[in-house]
Amino acid sequence: MKISKGKTLVLNVCVIALTIATVARAEQASQIVSPPLKEYRIVRSVTEDAQRCIDCHALESRGIVADWAASRHGHANISCIDCHAAGPADSDISKNHLALDKIPISVIVSPKDCSRCHPSEAAQFVRSKHSNTLELIWKFDPWLVDGMNNSIERQTGCYHCHGSVVKIEDGKLNTDTWPNVGVGRINPDGSRGSCSSCHTRHKFSLSEARKPEACGQCHLGPDHPQIEIYEESKHGAIYHAEGDSWNWNAAPGTWTPGVDYRTPSCSVCHISGVGEIATTHDVTERMAWETQAPLTVRPSEFTPWPAKTDWQTERQKMEQICLSCHSQTWTKGHFERLDAAVANYNNNYYEPMKKLIDGLYKKKLLSEEKNMDEQLEIEMYELWHHEGRRARFGAAMMAPDYAWWHGFYELKKRCMVIEEQAEQLLKSGRPAKVFEVKSSDGDTTKPDFQK
Ligand code: HEC
Ligand code: HEC
Ligand code: HEC
Ligand code: HEC
Ligand code: HEC
Ligand code: HEC
Ligand code: HEC
Ligand code: HEC
Repeated sequence: MKISKGKTLVLNVCVIALTIATVARAEQASQIVSPPLKEYRIVRSVTEDAQRCIDCHALESRGIVADWAASRHGHANISCIDCHAAGPADSDISKNHLALDKIPISVIVSPKDCSRCHPSEAAQFVRSKHSNTLELIWKFDPWLVDGMNNSIERQTGCYHCHGSVVKIEDGKLNTDTWPNVGVGRINPDGSRGSCSSCHTRHKFSLSEARKPEACGQCHLGPDHPQIEIYEESKHGAIYHAEGDSWNWNAAPGTWTPGVDYRTPSCSVCHISGVGEIATTHDVTERMAWETQAPLTVRPSEFTPWPAKTDWQTERQKMEQICLSCHSQTWTKGHFERLDAAVANYNNNYYEPMKKLIDGLYKKKLLSEEKNMDEQLEIEMYELWHHEGRRARFGAAMMAPDYAWWHGFYELKKRCMVIEEQAEQLLKSGRPAKVFEVKSSDGDTTKPDFQK
């Protein structure tokens, strides 16, 4: 959908009208109370078609119109029709809605739709792991590739965070795939992702996305407890103690450490512009490690999705953020410890256990057919996916409880269990018990990522 010539014209007329009004006012006595500007602009600059949407929806969906009216979009006269009007090529036109209004609409507003007005944010987001996560996880995740869980488990679990492949059936959105605002959703127009994962409709608020809660809805739990880690860090503690009084609404590019906030949120370290470091919607920037992977590697060496970044440059960017509040010694010291924790995990925990397990596969004591149907496979999975990640994330983001008690301590225990079970298998010489997965519906068809 495009802004029609008519709309641009009306906006121009409005600006002229405003200018004349301002000049006229300035010539009159200064006590004259100026009329409420927002009301004036809405009435004068919104097309009839656009106004119809607002009027009817003010009755039909009060909450939506209230959120929109309070948003920057509302103030800039970007209205319902600018985001929801569907083009003739759109496959997701709401047929039911044509009975309510002649303008065809679709409910989905994809990153492609937002990109008309926000091209740079969309371009960065499109190359991110966030936007491509669905393809990425279908390449190697054992639950999906081996069909170890079923559709309803994926719909209510994985896809809520990672996104669904939205399907249209008989002109309607298929309820197995909709509603969904997962961060890597694949939209009917072929674009990937959902901007409203972090900027919820219809406020699309900058301050909301800057707060850690916006990330914590997905970044939590035993395998990626970033929000819990943040809460435990001094940064998080100070945010909770006094964050209410910080300035979360500073204009893009002007949000300043020490002036607007005292400690960083997730957004400050991973997304926001700080000093010379530009804002990015590609969260792989500023990363020097793949600390979520089984064996920690550099982002450019991560085979399922090799980043086009150079880790040294990205590390420097991250350090630059810290240096806006900390000294060189403090900052370098932190990263030296992170790198040592990564080496400790790789060399003393992951590698030896991997070697042990590989030996069992070679001797056919474990079956290679499926990845998650033997006790030892689950133990190995949890070693890197749960405590192995927690140890590394805790060290990266200053959370001692996660680095040690939920991390390295649990790793030690897990290694004991793995060693014990491996020894028993070797002693008996009989293959491990294979568990039948009762809940699997065998649906392992890969979605078509070409569209
Ligand atoms: C005469 C009243 C009326 C007008 C005019 C109207 N709508 Fe709606 N619209 C509705 C109602 C009622 C629904 C809820 C239908 C439902 O529950 O599925 C709706 C639903 C929607 C939805 C959600 C569709 C879905 O599948 O979830 C969107 C988006 C939408 N309208 C946008 C617009 C836009 C944009 C315009 C202006 C071009 C507009 N509406 C004009 C009454 C109206
Ligand atoms: C900046 C773009 C934008 C504008 C402006 C906008 N919307 Fe939306 N709207 C969205 C997005 C994004 C969604 C969520 C769908 C998605 O995830 O793609 C949505 C969803 C909806 C829904 C379905 C929500 C639900 O919970 O069922 C309705 C109805 C709707 N919009 C109506 C409106 C109306 C009415 C207006 C004008 C007052 C409006 N929208 C303005 C982007 C926009
Ligand atoms: C027709 C053009 C247009 C479309 C489409 C559009 N926006 Fe915007 N958006 C704007 C303009 C203009 C502003 C700046 C408003 C201002 O600062 O007064 C803005 C501001 C924003 C902001 C900053 C808000 C703030 O608090 O400063 C966010 C976030 C945003 N848009 C997200 C989105 C998303 C997400 C979509 C798609 C769902 C979208 N926009 C679609 C024009 C658009
Ligand atoms: C609560 C939200 C949530 C749910 C539910 C969820 N994930 Fe994730 N997943 C994440 C987040 C957040 C990450 C990023 C972890 C990191 O980098 O620290 C992630 C990472 C991953 C990765 C690693 C990607 C990489 O770059 O190495 C895979 C694979 C994955 N998830 C698959 C799945 C599958 C399959 C399911 C369901 C069986 C699932 N996830 C359920 C949020 C979720
Ligand atoms: C992972 C969460 C996340 C997603 C997904 C996301 N954003 Fe943002 N966005 C943010 C954060 C955080 C900021 C605040 C950056 C700052 O401090 O200025 C932001 C800022 C913005 C701004 C204000 C400009 C600026 O430089 O601050 C716009 C416009 C915007 N986003 C549009 C989009 C669009 C369009 C999409 C989808 C293509 C999108 N965002 C997806 C988190 C997200
Ligand atoms: C709707 C769920 C969701 C939200 C909200 C979300 N993320 Fe993510 N995030 C994910 C998933 C899923 C992944 C894993 C992507 C992959 O590796 O396949 C991820 C990965 C990441 C990564 C790792 C990137 C890499 O290259 O390894 C970072 C950093 C990140 N997110 C930061 C953030 C920040 C900061 C916010 C909030 C501003 C945020 N995320 C909001 C779901 C989410
Ligand atoms: C003080 C800065 C800081 C804050 C605040 C912060 N992070 Fe991080 N984060 C880091 C650093 C440093 C790393 C490790 C970077 C590297 O690879 O060298 C990291 C790593 C990550 C990763 C792992 C990426 C991967 O796949 O290896 C994710 C995901 C992530 N952060 C998300 C978040 C979320 C979500 C929040 C808020 C709840 C948050 N971060 C808060 C600095 C921060
Ligand atoms: C906006 C300012 C700001 C930024 C940016 C920032 N910090 Fe901090 N940091 C603080 C403040 C304030 C404290 C609390 C100092 C104290 O304990 O008196 C703190 C505390 C810490 C601590 C001490 C934790 C503890 O529990 O003792 C470490 C380590 C740390 N920061 C590392 C970093 C690193 C690494 C980065 C960059 C990835 C970073 N910080 C970015 C302001 C910041």
